[in-house]
Amino acid sequence: MKKILITGANGYIGKCLYYFLKKKFKIIGIDKEKSSEKKITQCNILNKKKLNNFIKKEKPELIIHLAAQSLVDETINKKKYYDNNDKATKSLLEIAKKNNIKKIIFSSTASIYQQSSKPLKENSKIRALSTYAKTKRLCEKKIQSEKNLKFIILRFFNVCSALRSPIIGELHNPETHLIPTIVYKAMYNKKIYIYGSDFNTFDGTCIRDYIHIKDICLAIEKSIKYLFKNNRSNIFNIGNYKGLSNKEIISCVRKKIKNNLNLKYVNRRKGDVSKLICNSNKAKKILNWKANNSNIKKIIDDEMKWIFKFNKMGIKRKFKNYLL
Ligand SMILES: NC(=O)c1ccc[n+]([C@@H]2O[C@H](COP(=O)([O-])OP(=O)(O)OC[C@H]3O[C@@H](n4cnc5c(N)ncnc54)[C@H](O)[C@@H]3O)[C@@H](O)[C@H]2O)c1
Repeated sequence: MKKILITGANGYIGKCLYYFLKKKFKIIGIDKEKSSEKKITQCNILNKKKLNNFIKKEKPELIIHLAAQSLVDETINKKKYYDNNDKATKSLLEIAKKNNIKKIIFSSTASIYQQSSKPLKENSKIRALSTYAKTKRLCEKKIQSEKNLKFIILRFFNVCSALRSPIIGELHNPETHLIPTIVYKAMYNKKIYIYGSDFNTFDGTCIRDYIHIKDICLAIEKSIKYLFKNNRSNIFNIGNYKGLSNKEIISCVRKKIKNNLNLKYVNRRKGDVSKLICNSNKAKKILNWKANNSNIKKIIDDEMKWIFKFNKMGIKRKFKNYLL
């Protein structure tokens, strides 16, 4: 069994992926936060000495690099993004090279693209506006410039929902993503803020492409196989090829939960664009991957299962409101 290292293995995607791949590969993980999982070691990528000792001992054949300052919030100190995204990736690449690791999969983001009314392709115009997007783009460039390294860059759209077996999903602190926020607040009758109703879209609320975590895990699995088989670098957009407005999501959640939602429309957040939709044809053609699990009904159902689970454990979701 091939040994694969996941960085950021204690995060949302990392933990789901860890469980998803565990039976298929020999999976080890690192994260700067402590994990209850034995195979996930606490290690900050910026600590080059510790990272080198770990990699030297474990000798993974491929790295899936998910670790990042991932919360998109322009009020966060920029240094956090440059350290945990740009600098950490540089450090990881240096140690990978030193230990002769020649394959990497990197989680990039749709937010590096200039917004467009059309679904975005891998060669669509790049225009990274937020500090988060700028640092993710810097990471992409660093990876692309490494000689002797084969890479897959996956540009994820809006990842959401939970795996069913085991039931595991998203628990950011604070939670800022739309689906986990709306579903949770609808279930427990809390006030839901919708940021902006004056976007240039058919109903005035912004449109995003939501992709189920299971489809993300499948895309990563296909990328691993592609890298081992073809040993060739590539870039893929990973999304559902379908946009949903905030109001459309609200309507689906309302139908499912049947509560009177406590909604409040407020000003836009700084930096939010009107529309981001993925053209995933390239991943379909080359990776033979398709978003088969990303219909909104399944997204909401699986998110609810996960909420019931962590709520039973006495865990509450924490939110940050962006009221201007
Ligand atoms: N969730 C999404 O919708 C989405 C969309 C596009 C791209 N992505 C990208 O996918 C990746 C995973 O996203 P996520 O939602 O799981 O994020 P997350 O914040 O839940 O997880 C990131 C993990 O990385 C760890 N980490 C950060 N800096 C580190 C460092 N210096 N050393 C070691 N560990 C460190 C954190 O402790 C955290 O556990 C990120 O790179 C993110 O940018 C996510």
